[in-house]
Amino acid sequence: MRRLPPVLLEDGCSRELLSLIRTILAACKEISFRVSQGALSGVLGSTLDENIQGETQKKLDVLSNQLIKDILLESGYVKAIASEEEDYTVAGDPDAQYIVAFDPLDGSSNIDINSLVGTIFSIMEAPKDADPSDPSIFMQAGKKQVAAGYVLYGPSTMLALTTGKGTRLYTLDKTHGSFLLTQEKLIIPADTNEFAINASNQRHWLPPMQQYIEDCLAGTEGPRNKNFNMRWIACMVGDVHRLLTRGGLFSYPEDTKNPAKPYKLRLLYEANPMSMLVEQAGGLSYAGTERIMDIEPSEIHQRVAVTMGSKNEVETCLSYHK
Ligand code: F6P
Repeated sequence: MRRLPPVLLEDGCSRELLSLIRTILAACKEISFRVSQGALSGVLGSTLDENIQGETQKKLDVLSNQLIKDILLESGYVKAIASEEEDYTVAGDPDAQYIVAFDPLDGSSNIDINSLVGTIFSIMEAPKDADPSDPSIFMQAGKKQVAAGYVLYGPSTMLALTTGKGTRLYTLDKTHGSFLLTQEKLIIPADTNEFAINASNQRHWLPPMQQYIEDCLAGTEGPRNKNFNMRWIACMVGDVHRLLTRGGLFSYPEDTKNPAKPYKLRLLYEANPMSMLVEQAGGLSYAGTERIMDIEPSEIHQRVAVTMGSKNEVETCLSYHK
């Protein structure tokens, strides 16, 4: 492992952006500690509340949200925040340069089974002179992100971070409390024989996705002429971390299970930041046939179809949709 001083290797960033990232990471270190304490810190299980999206909130969802929200609003670095666990955007410092959208604890169905969870964040410039309480300041396409990252709380706590000059991996050194650089340039292999999808929804997918997966499953006896492996962690951070490190295709496609909710993943604080990390590592990320980072958002908790990962495999999947 290459040992570096406990600073982020994000050259060319403004001092304010680096301080903002460090502020988010300070909260993530605390979340990492609470997650690792499990039942000992009394944070397992659900609250009696639901978020605006009708999902039951876990105690750790609420705690993680509070930790990140408080530290960001106190820092003075954010004009406003948007969170999966907040119904509406929250105003910060009117003079601040940045806005942050985040999912404080992704994959929360994994909390109570001691499996992978993570925090995802997306940082954008705040429009100048904008009212911090106006949610429309978040209505910017993902290509305008200035930084994106996730922290994965696994056997080790890892940070994947991009500020637009590649994607880097850091590992939390718990003895010193610092994220140390452990992989300077991630490159997703263009080819893969692994996909991640919740196959229990198969009968609800649209025909192109049904056909794509059917052809993968047919292995060497089908048109793809190679065998595929499947993985599903049910935590986007965990599944995307795998494809960033060894390649693969991750998809949560459109489905017809509930016509009022054809997509599952959220654009602003799941799909966009993950797309930036994946594209900065040489991969692709699409919603149907549209590049995710080109989508102009229309609401804070907007959902999208997601297919991302190894370039050639995503292109093959796209060819079924065209
Ligand atoms: O956002 C929610 C999330 O937990 C993702 O992290 C994950 O990829 C997906 O939902 C899991 O969905 P399902 O419960 O359908 O497996």
